Amino acid sequence: MKDAFVRNPPFPKNYADEFLVLDHGKGSWVWDREGKRYLDFSSGIAVTALGHGRRDLARIAARQMKKLTHVSNLFTTEPALELANRLVTTGDRLGGRGFSAVHLGNSGTEANEAAIKYARVYALRTKGEGHHKLLSFTGAFHGRTLGSLSLTPTEKYQKPYHPLLPGVETAPYNDLAALDRLNEGYAAVFLEPLQGEGGLDRISPAFAAKLQDLCHRYDILIVADEIQCGMGRTGTFFASEQLGLSPDIVTLAKPLAGGLPLSATLIPAKVNSIVHVGDHGTTFGGGPVTSAVANRMLDVILNEKFLKSVQDKGKLFGDLLEGIRARTPLVREVKGMGLLRGLALNLNSGDNSTLSRVIDAAQRHGLLILRAGTNVLRLAPPLTVSPSELKHGTELLSVVLSTLGSVP
Ligand SMILES: Cc1ncc(COP(=O)(O)O)c(C=O)c1O
Repeated sequence: MKDAFVRNPPFPKNYADEFLVLDHGKGSWVWDREGKRYLDFSSGIAVTALGHGRRDLARIAARQMKKLTHVSNLFTTEPALELANRLVTTGDRLGGRGFSAVHLGNSGTEANEAAIKYARVYALRTKGEGHHKLLSFTGAFHGRTLGSLSLTPTEKYQKPYHPLLPGVETAPYNDLAALDRLNEGYAAVFLEPLQGEGGLDRISPAFAAKLQDLCHRYDILIVADEIQCGMGRTGTFFASEQLGLSPDIVTLAKPLAGGLPLSATLIPAKVNSIVHVGDHGTTFGGGPVTSAVANRMLDVILNEKFLKSVQDKGKLFGDLLEGIRARTPLVREVKGMGLLRGLALNLNSGDNSTLSRVIDAAQRHGLLILRAGTNVLRLAPPLTVSPSELKHGTELLSVVLSTLGSVP
């Protein structure tokens, strides 16, 4: 007889050897193949921003599939044109010099690969050879392909794949003095305004200001990776809006098409003006089906009432989590913004098991949550989560943490 788990499926061993097999979902909930229900505070790693089982998204995708499914980048379609135009306009919220074009791709890492290429080609054609250096920060996660991986300075992810992209450096996140290294030899600085995988730290206003000042001085492009923290997750469309950052390039992905693979790299006119035909491309990126669904995502998320509701629920969520912290010795700090939150745990260094035990226990109690870094529980409910679901989820988490917290 089948149970809810599958062991040793024919997936590569870089994944777990046991998976919970999920069958269907509705709103903030998913069901496994045995019929057990889970409150989903993982959202498929911050992807299903409008919840599961959306009939509007399914209807739009099905209609577009019947009409025209794929055209490649040799042609375009109305949904892709509409999406690119809307993202360019939406970029005005960042208060910088604005964006003039959008490269549509298929995943977060591809969005960052595109940003790396645009930054390098821009530096080459405006400053000449030898100005190709890239800087990223400790705790960053920019993706798994070799360019993005080179910007992701976590030893266990990078170590087996050396040599990585040359000319990539890492500096401590939020360290003002570390920015003094910047000079015209750098093409771009990549950063997550609010780090996801790294543990929910955000940039300080002073760091944003100094970074912008130096990058402006040396014509270094600032690339804001809003793949996890963007698209309304923090209560504003871009997290950068709240953090005083006006990036030159922005990358978006995860929730862009509500669970279908789609990414966007927003570039400014000064970059677009030096790019030539053939410098970059993709077969699937910005297809009509994913673009049509993304347009519906924007209809919902760009509504100011919707963003206000995320702000209100984000505040409630923060307060509920503070309540857990106050009564649970295992919890040290509440981190994050809006509906992308973290609970930093008091763990001994080298403790690699407690986080996993909490996540497994939460799952047994019917709550799906994530990890971030080495000691942070990451919580990313759908943006459509209800206040009562937030209360229910935090109650479940509180029970799990107080039970595990009492085990020596
Ligand atoms: C901030 C950030 N950038 C990039 C990525 C890579 O996205 P993908 O897994 O779609 O390639 C992720 C994925 O977790 C992410 O959180």
